[in-house]
Amino acid sequence: MEESVTLTDNRTGRSIEIPIVGGGVDAGAWRKLLGGIWFNDPGMATTAVTSSAVAEIDGEAGILRYRGYPIEQLAERSTFPEVAYLLVYGELPTGAQLDEWTFEITRHTFIHENFRKRIYDAFHYDAHPMGLLVSGVAGLSTFYPEAKDIFDPDNRRAQIVRLIAKMPTLAAAAYRFSRGLPFQFPENADDYPTRFLKMMFDVGGDYEPDPPLVQAMRVLFILHADHGQNCSTTATRVVGSSHADPYTAIAAGCAALYGPLHGGANEAVIDMLTQIGSYDEVDGFIAEVKAGKHRLMGFGHRVYKNYDPRAMIIKAAAHDVFKVIGKNPLLDIALKLEEVALADDYFVSRRLYPNVDFYSGLIYQALGFPTNMFTVLFAIGRTPGWLAHWNEMVEQKSRIYRPRQIYTGAPKRDYVPMKDR
Ligand code: CMC
Repeated sequence: MEESVTLTDNRTGRSIEIPIVGGGVDAGAWRKLLGGIWFNDPGMATTAVTSSAVAEIDGEAGILRYRGYPIEQLAERSTFPEVAYLLVYGELPTGAQLDEWTFEITRHTFIHENFRKRIYDAFHYDAHPMGLLVSGVAGLSTFYPEAKDIFDPDNRRAQIVRLIAKMPTLAAAAYRFSRGLPFQFPENADDYPTRFLKMMFDVGGDYEPDPPLVQAMRVLFILHADHGQNCSTTATRVVGSSHADPYTAIAAGCAALYGPLHGGANEAVIDMLTQIGSYDEVDGFIAEVKAGKHRLMGFGHRVYKNYDPRAMIIKAAAHDVFKVIGKNPLLDIALKLEEVALADDYFVSRRLYPNVDFYSGLIYQALGFPTNMFTVLFAIGRTPGWLAHWNEMVEQKSRIYRPRQIYTGAPKRDYVPMKDR
């Protein structure tokens, strides 16, 4: 039997039956019955803005899959370029496809020297690298004006390759600018995470990252690669829906990611752990969170009402990194925070669990990244996901995003001349 819901307009007595299809009901049927009555849904918490085949998330069960493949398997066995291909094209690549893809995203890593020097040099020396990244990505559109032709699949592929290739270069350049270090050119012979780590940290030509650190970077990029219609992906789609070029749309994604409730949370977690300062202060801090003085950063999620599967993998990866580098002293505070929170009714009743950002910052810090680079790392990882959704949206020929509002302002009134105010 087909499942459905029945809506009745009590003003008129008219009813309409709407079938439940794929876990959703068609808003068009709502409009037919209730034209001019808007579905009031702050934060779009109950609205599916699109159908999408990119990532499946079951928040109740704590499941995340990219194109059907469990995140745990991809984190263990895949590479970041392979996952990027999977997200964008829907299938794991064959050997030949992966070779071609890897060749492309290795050959397009350079950024025009005029751009890197002139744009980044315009910033103050202590500018936040996310500010540089947002501007850098948006600025790239001026170098590739052909990117505006979004309905040509070959052209889309060219820009997708460029963005995945250039993101680490832009990110590392932002870091080196802030440190006053000369720019390090990308090396084609390296794999994606090694190339990025070298662009970040090599100074005298002899930096070789430890294999477990490269592995950690690989896992972190993969875990961040997509997460359905999150805030930054939605921002990318909103801008892309007006048929802006992909650089401009992805710059919007970066901008949305910057905020502490989204990608900025990993930086906020380290600030929080540093502020707590010691194991003994954890109980007092939790009491303050419960009193509404702070949020427990890295906890809670709009979709997950269970342990975020990414947090589980990152927690294990953190231990591998600490074996090589030595333990991050903030780890004990984080572990105790988690233990106390998961046993406390405030967090249990609201189903607040550690999310992806709770442990990722500890690894980033151990790898030597300054806290203001954490969200930039998230952005590198998320770029294939943003692009997969943007590409999907263009293929779907989706409509421009244009939500409604419930107007609560003043009714009509006449302009008051200055002398009468
Ligand atoms: N600490 C304390 N209380 C919290 C927290 C938290 N981290 N998160 C939610 N709550 C409480 C909130 O106060 C509310 O309580 P009440 O019902 O008494 O008013 C209840 O839980 C529901 O919270 P909400 O704000 O309505 O939930 P949301 O779905 O709108 O927000 C969230 C989701 C992720 C923004 C939020 O949980 C949060 O601010 N977490 C901390 C920031 C963070 O870690 N963000 C990273 C998210 S994962 C990576 C990513 O996707 O970017």
